[in-house]
Amino acid sequence: MKARGDFLDQDNILVMKSITKSFPGVLALDSVDIYVEKGEIHFIVGENGAGKSTLMKVLSGIYPYGDYSGDILFQDQIKHFHGIKDSVSCGIVIINQELALFPDLSVYENIFVGHEKLSRGFLMDWDETKKLAKKFLDIVKLDIDIYELVGPLGVGKQQLIEIAKALSHNVKLLILDEPFTGLDPINQLLLKEIIQEKAQAGKTIIFSTHQMEQVERLCSNISLINKGKIILEGELRAVKDSKKTKAIEVVFDGKVDIEKVENYLENVIVKENFVSGIVKKDHRSFLNWINKIVDVESFQVKIPTLEQIFIDEVRESR
Ligand SMILES: Nc1ncnc2c1ncn2[C@@H]1O[C@H](COP(=O)(O)OP(=O)(O)OP(=O)(O)O)[C@@H](O)[C@H]1O
Ligand SMILES: [Mg+2]
Repeated sequence: MKARGDFLDQDNILVMKSITKSFPGVLALDSVDIYVEKGEIHFIVGENGAGKSTLMKVLSGIYPYGDYSGDILFQDQIKHFHGIKDSVSCGIVIINQELALFPDLSVYENIFVGHEKLSRGFLMDWDETKKLAKKFLDIVKLDIDIYELVGPLGVGKQQLIEIAKALSHNVKLLILDEPFTGLDPINQLLLKEIIQEKAQAGKTIIFSTHQMEQVERLCSNISLINKGKIILEGELRAVKDSKKTKAIEVVFDGKVDIEKVENYLENVIVKENFVSGIVKKDHRSFLNWINKIVDVESFQVKIPTLEQIFIDEVRESR
């Protein structure tokens, strides 16, 4: 796993260092460090109330500088955002868990509200605005009349309009807080495809979610957060490799003596040509030994799911 802890590592587009944020009676973020490289898809994963939305709101200036302690370094510069406009002007765009569309405005007005296209520098260029709105709706594959009001639309469609709106900004870092909520499986898949495309085009993406199975499918970097603290971080594959359980299964041809197996394994199960158990020290010494006695046909070390890793880590951190 690559060391990512250097504050001024040139590959990092974003570093959040020692971020602490309290609400009355709640320490929502407790000295949180986050490192994100350019073009990376980074998941902030944790249970309800872990602090994910609070962290995203600190990053996007919704909780302004002074409301938290710690530092935000974006593109090698310390940033003090006093509101969401400051982060947007740097290319950081957030789609909040609580969607922020105007129900009484049309689809295209929602996409460009606040940054409408001007012609000759001062007059609103409505034709251009509508054309671009259609282009961004096409990217999220939403076939909808741009004049429709947003209010009566379902959550899934509103979510896609939010994504189209985010893409309409000159975005460098896109933050999606719980984006899968409200999307059906087809749109979840579409969102993943859009995100992968954007990452390949050099955009950086931060997702926050408590749906760990979504993370498993989009291989990426993760920060696991629990009760306001980061408890594990790194590349998903490396994290999983480092957390390989000691549970092993061996299929073989021949006969083994269970008592001898118990020198190496606990919770041993021996069947005719199969042995499983938990290794006492390391699996290599067991494999060396059993290889001399029988013909080993297959050998498996079980890789845990992210959810299992999370549960173990939370238990250990108590
Ligand atoms: N505006 C607020 N006022 C008071 N407490 C808050 C506020 N916002 C969040 N909290 C508290 O801070 C903690 C972290 O909340 P946060 O919303 O960041 O969690 P989350 O990881 O986004 O959870 P979820 O998965 O439910 O969205 C929780 O204990 C929550 O109750
Ligand atoms: Mg949240």
